[in-house]
Amino acid sequence: MSDLFSKFDALIEQRETLLSTGMTDPFNLVMERVESPTVAICNGQRTILLGTYNYMGMTFDRDVIAAGKQALDDYGAGTTGSRVLNGTYAGHKACEEALKDFYAMDHAMVFSTGYQANLGIISTIAGKDDYIVLDIDSHASIYDGCALGNANIVTFRHNDVEALEKRLKRIPEGAKTLVVLEGVYSMLGDIAPLKEMVAVAKAAGAMVLVDEAHSMGFIGENGRGVAEAQGVIDDVDFIIGTFSKSVGTVGGFCVSNHPKFEILRLVCRPYVFTASLPPSVVATAATSITKLKQGADKRAHLWANSQKLHAGLKALGFTLGTETPQSAIIAVIMPDLETGAAMWEALLHEGLYVNLARPPATPANMTLLRCSLCAEHTSEQVDQILDMFEAAGRATGCIG
Ligand SMILES: Cc1ncc(COP(=O)(O)O)c(C=O)c1O
Repeated sequence: MSDLFSKFDALIEQRETLLSTGMTDPFNLVMERVESPTVAICNGQRTILLGTYNYMGMTFDRDVIAAGKQALDDYGAGTTGSRVLNGTYAGHKACEEALKDFYAMDHAMVFSTGYQANLGIISTIAGKDDYIVLDIDSHASIYDGCALGNANIVTFRHNDVEALEKRLKRIPEGAKTLVVLEGVYSMLGDIAPLKEMVAVAKAAGAMVLVDEAHSMGFIGENGRGVAEAQGVIDDVDFIIGTFSKSVGTVGGFCVSNHPKFEILRLVCRPYVFTASLPPSVVATAATSITKLKQGADKRAHLWANSQKLHAGLKALGFTLGTETPQSAIIAVIMPDLETGAAMWEALLHEGLYVNLARPPATPANMTLLRCSLCAEHTSEQVDQILDMFEAAGRATGCIG
C-alpha cells in the first residue's frame, strides 16, 4: 500500500532528533493561564509574553470583554450559518460599519479569519487568465489565495521595486493584473516601500491589494497601516486585515472603495461556504476597532518599546532582521535550528516566551526568534526581557 505520509519522513526525523535531547517542544507549548496581554503561566512558571500579535493589548480591554459577554447573552454562542443565509446578525453589520469608519472606505467585508480573507478575495478577483504579481516572501494565505484562483503567478525579489517593475513589463498586453503586497513582512518585521511600489503598479495599470495584518492599529497616523503612513492609501484598491493581531480576537476583513465590491459577497467561496463569526467575536472586534481609533498614546508607547528592545538586543551582540526598528516585530537571527531551539528553551526557562520560526515559513532558510511587542509591555518589562536575552544568550553561546 502506498504511504501518503512518506513525504513527511524527513520532518518527522528532524523533530524526533530535536526532542530526543529532552528539550521542550517549541511548537506544543500550553498557556496554562493568561493573566494579561503580557503575562501567562507556562509550565507552571510566570512568563512574559513576547511572541503574541497582541500589538495594542486589546485582548483584556474592559469594554471589549463587556461587549463580548453582552453579545453572548443577547445572541447566543454562534450563528450556525453562512453570512449569505442565516449568519448575518446586527453585530456583523456593526463590525463592518466600524471597519468602514476606521479606514474611511466605502465597503467592508468580514471573513471568519484573515487567512480566509486573503484566500477569498485573491482567488475571486484574479482567476484563470489573470496575472498576480507578488513579493516572494508573501504570507502563506496569499500564496494559497493565488493557487485557489488558478491565476498566473509571477513573484519578484522581496521589497525590490525595480524587480516588480520588470515583472510588470513582461505581463502580456491586455492581461488583467493584481499586485499583492504586505505592509509589514512578519518574519523579519521589515516594511514595504509601498509608495514606490504602488506607483509602479498603478503606472502599469494593475490593481493593488495590500495585506496590513501586522500594521493595523499601530502604523500610520490613524493606525490604518503602512499605506497610510506612506501616503498611498487612496491608491490601494483592497486592504486585507485580520482581527487576530491588533484587534485582539479572531476574524479577517477586506476594505475597499471599488464601486462593484459588494458583488463579492455572492461569488467569494471562502465567504459563502463557511459559517460566520460568533456574535461575541464580532462584538469584541467592533468595540476594539472603534477604540483603536483613539490609540495615539499607545502607538507612541509601542514605538518607544520597539526602539528600546531593538537597540538593547543589538548592543548585546545579537544579529537582527532589520538595521533599525520598522515595526513591533523584532527578529533575532539564529545560526541554525538547533541553536535557535536551545536559545528558545533557555529563554523559556528565564520566563520569556518568543516565537521560534523556521523554514519553510522563514525567508532564506533562516531560523528566527521573533519578538513582537505589545503596547501593554512596560518599559521595566523591556529591561527584564533584555536581561533574559543576555542570560540565555550567554548560556547557549549565542553571544560572548
Ligand atoms: C500577513 C498575514 N496575513 C494574513 C494572516 C492570517 O491571519 P489570521 O490569523 O486572521 O488567519 C496572517 C497571520 O499570521 C499574516 O501574518
